[in-house]
Amino acid sequence: MARAEWGSRLGFILAAAGSAVGLGAIWKFPYVAAQNGGGAFLLIFLVIVFTLGISLMIAEMSVGASTKKSPVGAYRKLGGKWWSSVGYIGVLCGFLILSFYSVVGGWTIAYIVKSIQGSILTTDPAVLSRTFDSFIADPVMPIWYHAAFMALTAGVILAGVQKGIERVSKHLMVMLFLLILILIARGLTLHGALDGVVTFLYPDFSKVTPTMIIEAMGLAFFSMSLGMGCMITYGSYASGETSIPNSARSVIGLTTLICFLSGLMVFPAIFVFNFNPLAGPGLTFITMPAVFSQMSGGQFFSILFFFLLFVAALTSSVSLMEVVVSFFIDEFQFPRMMTTVIMSILMFILGIGASLSLGVWKNYTLFGKNLFGLLDYVSSNLIMPFGGIMIAILVGWKAWPVISARLAYPDGTCPVWLPLFKFICRFVAPVLIFVILLQNL
Ligand code: PFF
Repeated sequence: MARAEWGSRLGFILAAAGSAVGLGAIWKFPYVAAQNGGGAFLLIFLVIVFTLGISLMIAEMSVGASTKKSPVGAYRKLGGKWWSSVGYIGVLCGFLILSFYSVVGGWTIAYIVKSIQGSILTTDPAVLSRTFDSFIADPVMPIWYHAAFMALTAGVILAGVQKGIERVSKHLMVMLFLLILILIARGLTLHGALDGVVTFLYPDFSKVTPTMIIEAMGLAFFSMSLGMGCMITYGSYASGETSIPNSARSVIGLTTLICFLSGLMVFPAIFVFNFNPLAGPGLTFITMPAVFSQMSGGQFFSILFFFLLFVAALTSSVSLMEVVVSFFIDEFQFPRMMTTVIMSILMFILGIGASLSLGVWKNYTLFGKNLFGLLDYVSSNLIMPFGGIMIAILVGWKAWPVISARLAYPDGTCPVWLPLFKFICRFVAPVLIFVILLQNL
């Protein structure tokens, strides 16, 4: 049977961007950037994204496009039997990420509800921090919301409405983009906003540490959905005429833009209202309501913001679940329904642990991290970079003839950047990522 293809080139880019743009850009990027002091971190992040990120995006998409298979099958076809294990690791990574991703997805639903109730429309940092902290530490409510988010993700997969969601989410993404611009404009006109902008943009290189570079790299992998085969899956549905480099550029460009704008949205608020920049995973949830409370129609904007964030998270979580579920279907011919239900339940259970580790279980730590932090760290800072090394080696060394043929123009000539891309895949990416990973250990 011929593999289904995206209806249009734009459809492919939008679907991949839907996977990439999500909590990573709007929730994770601002707080990790703030924890790492702003400017210098931003610069390192951008350098990593526009060197490694773009190359690995092209690599993953073209592996998918030339094999027409999901990760495990694609690795096996291009690399041989042993390479399929890289695909397995990617599936495991998707499983780990979705378990805590769904917890945060649940927070977005909770904050839609809180916005409707109007309980968060204040500029008082103490109230906003307390609201968030006591919410995530609660042993019951966040788990219900986590269950709802996971069920919605599974529902989208089971109803087979991804395409429908994409069609709707394309408009919602534009709305999210415009809303972020409005919020930036409001934030920048508040007294004291400039300090936030300066902190976000001015690179203070004395603050650069190896940890910061690891964090920037992990964030790049996470927010671009790289290193676990997700983009292989998307690439496998791309039609023959789709330009992989153009698509990769668009997805990377768009996601990076949203990361950057999210920083511009959150940083000024931190300084204007005196929030703690080291608030961690709560940062976006704690600071943004203060901005809404300073806007006419603030409640409306608050509901809209958390709703759009929820939709952005859902299009990403669907892509994560697709990686996990399609693995069992492709490899073991498991029925779709059963696989989706079982995997959702298992990820939900692990997510319960992640949620509780922010409250009643917060004293149980490993390597100084609670379960939530550990799942995040292991997936973004260890497994995804490892996956990045492997995809680069596969493309640069093992499968170069196949990949370069897919990247050549229809008339057979090669793009001028192809040798550079090959060089990055063969040497730069594996060595650089490895060196950064070593700092970890
Ligand atoms: N890139 C998504 C985000 O930033 O929210 C998260 C993600 C989705 C990571 C899909 C990995 C993935 F395969």
